[in-house]
Amino acid sequence: MSRDGRIVLTKDGLSLSRLVFGASRLFNGAVRLEVARLIGTAIDLGLTSFDHADIYGNYEVEAAFGAGLSCWRGKREEIELISKCDIMLASPNRPQNRLKHYDTSAAHILASVDRSLTNLGTDYLDLLLLHRPDPLMDADETAAALAGLVKSGKVRAVGVSNFTPSQFDLLASRLPFVLATNQIEMSVLKTSALTDGSLDHAQRLGYAPMIWSPLGGGSLFTGMESREARVRAALAAVAAEVGAGDLATVAIAWLLRHPARLLPVMGSMKPERLAAMVKALEINLDRQQWFAILEASEGRPVA
Ligand SMILES: NC(=O)c1ccc[n+]([C@@H]2O[C@H](COP(=O)([O-])OP(=O)(O)OC[C@H]3O[C@@H](n4cnc5c(N)ncnc54)[C@H](OP(=O)(O)O)[C@@H]3O)[C@@H](O)[C@H]2O)c1
Repeated sequence: MSRDGRIVLTKDGLSLSRLVFGASRLFNGAVRLEVARLIGTAIDLGLTSFDHADIYGNYEVEAAFGAGLSCWRGKREEIELISKCDIMLASPNRPQNRLKHYDTSAAHILASVDRSLTNLGTDYLDLLLLHRPDPLMDADETAAALAGLVKSGKVRAVGVSNFTPSQFDLLASRLPFVLATNQIEMSVLKTSALTDGSLDHAQRLGYAPMIWSPLGGGSLFTGMESREARVRAALAAVAAEVGAGDLATVAIAWLLRHPARLLPVMGSMKPERLAAMVKALEINLDRQQWFAILEASEGRPVA
């Protein structure tokens, strides 16, 4: 992936690779050298941006990734580290959490970022996201904590995830800088962002949304419902037209075709699959190919 395909998120020049490596599935007993090898493969493929959250792998992925990263010989500024906070899991690693809930208090955000920095073995995050909208968010308190993190240099930029446009606007109204992104779910199987205002909001404000589960978390390949079967057939037909060897390549090209400059966060841990998806950057679906996949997903032609 060429570096000029990168997406600039902030005025101070923070940019992400067009395809982002999602780390949530990293930890399954992976040892340090395996992690290091996978990080190297991702970087070689042009995926220099790595998406984390404090909670991944029951709060254990960041440290596993940090151990792998410590074997990497490149410079810190050649990659981008993204993390998230505010989901509180009921986990043996957090016995104080009696139930799953959200916490956007200043105390939690600041403590969580410090833990992420330690776990990842870095002194700054390129991007911090609030993971989920918190119904108890005090926008003034949360914004002050986020602004303080940017001022201190611990975080280069701030964004949100799974926020509605209205929730985004509320937080943005209290910040001295723009929110860099909203990381939302979207795929050929999950198209609600096209009509619920999320992508309109992104284009109106000019930020590039990050896209999680861009292959439906794998259900695109394993799903047995008629919708998934229809979408696979449509992807196969388009793949034959554009000469793509993999349905995943076309599914990612479908996202890249949207003018809001979507940044898919890839969840595969298999180098050959990541390589197949990078090929999506060379494919430009025409309108009718794009709409054929939408029609298969919706189960009907557009009105
Ligand atoms: N902000 C949020 O709330 C939120 C929520 C969920 C996820 N995320 C982020 O989004 C990232 C991606 O989510 P995801 O893992 O659900 O993404 P995904 O790319 O939609 O799904 C990845 C899964 O699909 C499987 N898969 C099966 N066949 C595949 C094929 N041909 N090509 C590629 N993958 C195939 C992969 O298995 P293999 O590993 O065996 O290839 C993997 O288990 C996460 O890592 C995380 O960073 C964010």
